[in-house]
Amino acid sequence: MPTAIVAQQAGGPEVLTLAEVDRPTPTRSELLVRVAAAGINYIETYQRSGYYPVKYPFTPGAEAAGEVVAMGPEATGFAVGDRVAFAEGVGTYAQYTLVEADKAVPVPEGVSLETAAALPLQGATAHYLINTTFKVQLGQTVLTHAGAGGVGLLLIQLLKAKGARVITTVSTDDKEALAREAGADEVLRYDGFDTAVRELTNGVGVDVVYDGVGKATFDGSLASLRKRGTLVLFGAASGAVPPFDPQRLAATGSVYLTRPKLLDHLLSVEERRWRFSEVFAAVVDGSLRVRIGATYPLEAAAHAHEDLEARKTTGKLLLIP
Ligand SMILES: NC(=O)c1ccc[n+]([C@@H]2O[C@H](COP(=O)([O-])OP(=O)(O)OC[C@H]3O[C@@H](n4cnc5c(N)ncnc54)[C@H](OP(=O)(O)O)[C@@H]3O)[C@@H](O)[C@H]2O)c1
Repeated sequence: MPTAIVAQQAGGPEVLTLAEVDRPTPTRSELLVRVAAAGINYIETYQRSGYYPVKYPFTPGAEAAGEVVAMGPEATGFAVGDRVAFAEGVGTYAQYTLVEADKAVPVPEGVSLETAAALPLQGATAHYLINTTFKVQLGQTVLTHAGAGGVGLLLIQLLKAKGARVITTVSTDDKEALAREAGADEVLRYDGFDTAVRELTNGVGVDVVYDGVGKATFDGSLASLRKRGTLVLFGAASGAVPPFDPQRLAATGSVYLTRPKLLDHLLSVEERRWRFSEVFAAVVDGSLRVRIGATYPLEAAAHAHEDLEARKTTGKLLLIP
């Protein structure tokens, strides 16, 4: 029988155990995909821990790439044998998974299934953050945290391609080297980063902060903004930001605060294809490099979560069933 990771309750990484499961059957417009690699994303730690509620038994994972092995009767646009990738699956920590056909995109020639599994969620996120949430322009100065992370390394490269000046934060020398290699202009440690940002910007502050770290960086991120700058809070790797008094936005210089999520930026087939095709094209033309920091066998999903939450990882993490 095929296997999948199944959690029976919320908890630490140890709740992620391997189980034998039935091979799913595609109905209506679903594709059945044999997973070549499943992308691990920080959100799955929030779901596993109970911070984001889920139903049990729970198989984590929204992202994967693999081969179509069967199709529901109403599924169109693909054929058995096609290579597909997606960010909006359900339960991709598995050998087989189902995805709605209109949520999958074809994997272009020349892109491996592992690279394809590393891109949809973090790539589309980096894309909407800098093209839609705050449209970054040539010459603007940007602060983005966790520069050696999955989203972080993609953001730095895509921001540099737009001609922005990129300041980032990381926790170690090794991560600093990776952030610089990706093109970051300035790499800071978290301690006192807001003071350093003021110095680096002649007291002005940055146009936009992309903050996926949350609780530990939120106040410093606000303090790093220029007047009428924008704080894009897009994650909570260090914990949730406590309730917030909007008056602080005025006191900080009439700044803007937004808290976006990916699913609101993949609203149609056209929007999904636009974001994915631009990100995949950048990989194919060599302007965007994808760092797969580690791959784990499916049964080691718990170990992968431990590493991610302990800040031991860089770039993308993949599960290989
Ligand atoms: N809203 C959306 O649409 C969306 C979509 C995708 C991801 N996200 C968010 O983006 C963030 C990054 O996701 P990712 O998958 O690319 O993860 P990641 O950046 O590869 O891993 C998280 C990184 O956060 C940093 N960090 C700082 N303080 C931390 C702490 N107390 N505990 C753990 N990590 C800490 C660590 O880097 P250092 O060691 O360098 O500090 C760590 O490596 C997450 O918050 C995720 O939820 C949001």
